[in-house]
Amino acid sequence: MVKIAPSILSADFLNLKNEIEEVIKGGADYIHVDVMDGNYVPNLTFGMPVVKSIKKACSIPLDVHLMIDKPERYIDEFIDAGADILTIHYEATTHLHRTIQLIKSKGILAGVSLNPATSLDVLEYIYEDIDLVLLMSVNPGFGGQTFIKAVERKLKELRKNIDNNYPHVLIEIDGGIKLDNAKNIADLGADILVIGSDIFSYNDIRSRTEQFKLVINNN
Ligand code: DX5
Ligand code: ZN
Repeated sequence: MVKIAPSILSADFLNLKNEIEEVIKGGADYIHVDVMDGNYVPNLTFGMPVVKSIKKACSIPLDVHLMIDKPERYIDEFIDAGADILTIHYEATTHLHRTIQLIKSKGILAGVSLNPATSLDVLEYIYEDIDLVLLMSVNPGFGGQTFIKAVERKLKELRKNIDNNYPHVLIEIDGGIKLDNAKNIADLGADILVIGSDIFSYNDIRSRTEQFKLVINNN
């Protein structure tokens, strides 16, 4: 079963508890939480206190995506706030292996994210230490952007390599996923799809979530 992780970046923050409950009722597998620092990406969102509050309202795992420079500075804090999966960007940390070990030492899942133009080659010596690869299919920073086509090929190559050599690693893909391309992306080999605007811009977010689950797992 391909899973989905609705991204609350596009949610109504005044109504966040209710919207989280609705996507959970619709079958969401994770809540995807986009943390941006206005430095690594040209946008700002929120930090640990908000993640902590979300955790209290959330009965499914929190998938925290750190789009921040030098994420090693805040690993402990985000884990204490309630992250179940903590994903950092390859491009944002100098000592990737050390930062991954820091996450793993706390007993949660560690992910590495790659920007669209970053080659899969950079993962070669870290696959054995990670639980998840998050492929960005837009340039990180904003919801509502268009899926970058070249990432389809990247996803296919990653799927092949992981199946052959590192079957413990999950593949997540993030950015520009809509109801009309989700099935194709799932079929190319993603395990988890992050979906922001194409869920939260609808009035009935529960049924929109259900539709995604149906479409991606329909043979
Ligand atoms: C973008 C974020 C995404 C974003 C996806 O930097 O990492 O998680 O919320 O939004 P959509 O699905 O609207 O492209
Ligand atoms: Zn994200």
